[in-house]
Amino acid sequence: MTRVLTVENLTMAYGKRLLQRELNFTVNQGDIFVIMGGSGCGKSTLLRHLIGLKQPAAGRVLYGGIDFWQAGAEQRSRILRRAGILYQSGALWSGMTLEENIALPLQQYSGQKGTSIREIVAFKLALVGLSGFEHYYPAELSGGMRKRAALARAIALDPEFLFFDEPSAGLDPISAKNLDQLILEIRDSLGATVIIVSHELASIFAIGTNAVFLDSEAKTMLAAGAPEQLLAESADQRVIDFLTRGKGTRGAPTL
Ligand SMILES: Nc1ncnc2c1ncn2[C@@H]1O[C@H](COP(=O)(O)OP(=O)(O)OP(=O)(O)O)[C@@H](O)[C@H]1O
Ligand SMILES: [Mg+2]
Repeated sequence: MTRVLTVENLTMAYGKRLLQRELNFTVNQGDIFVIMGGSGCGKSTLLRHLIGLKQPAAGRVLYGGIDFWQAGAEQRSRILRRAGILYQSGALWSGMTLEENIALPLQQYSGQKGTSIREIVAFKLALVGLSGFEHYYPAELSGGMRKRAALARAIALDPEFLFFDEPSAGLDPISAKNLDQLILEIRDSLGATVIIVSHELASIFAIGTNAVFLDSEAKTMLAAGAPEQLLAESADQRVIDFLTRGKGTRGAPTL
């Protein structure tokens, strides 16, 4: 297994307010790595540290051995060019059609023009099951379709890393399951590594290959490993409670 992203002794804080300390974990090539934990523990903040939006209070974020926050501006932007991001709020531009939304990163970074951009956009929309929706505005789509459109934009530049913050939040169970399936397919077709924030148990067990569990009271991680392994073997009741939705026993999770 190839390590593609390593977090070492990471401490996260907003000003003097400590959120998490001494986070240590490794993401391997092809993982669907889940950042788990209750609301407000710092999952989105951790994602922001991984994608260059927030500087660690201490510790390191390493991409294939390169210390992101010590690297020069050029090296950092080279790393970020390899990442596709889907934010918690979805965040498509509401005044632009799907085609314009997805074309934007291609115009900015790919060096492609006109017709070939249109072809790439059509291909990405097909990948997420939205062929023919080029000229729709985000407001004309359902929540699930908007997520898929945002996913199409996140993969516009064929990223090696895909970061998702709560991709299935607000979706019904069937749409959430379809989105999980889509994330798996996209990981396989791009050969990407996926880092995902989630507290949806169904999704965590269905697609997570590896995970870290953050706790807001302990202000650090309580566990790391494959979700099923954590459920079977974790000695920490807080981890078990989270993975069994508070039932506190290890029977099959009720999803
Ligand atoms: N820009 C900011 N400045 C100061 N505090 C912040 C900022 N962003 C988040 N916080 C605080 O940091 C804590 C963690 O926030 P974060 O959004 O990372 O949590 P989360 O685990 O993603 O929660 P949720 O599951 O609700 O999305 C919260 O208490 C939040 O109020
Ligand atoms: Mg969040």
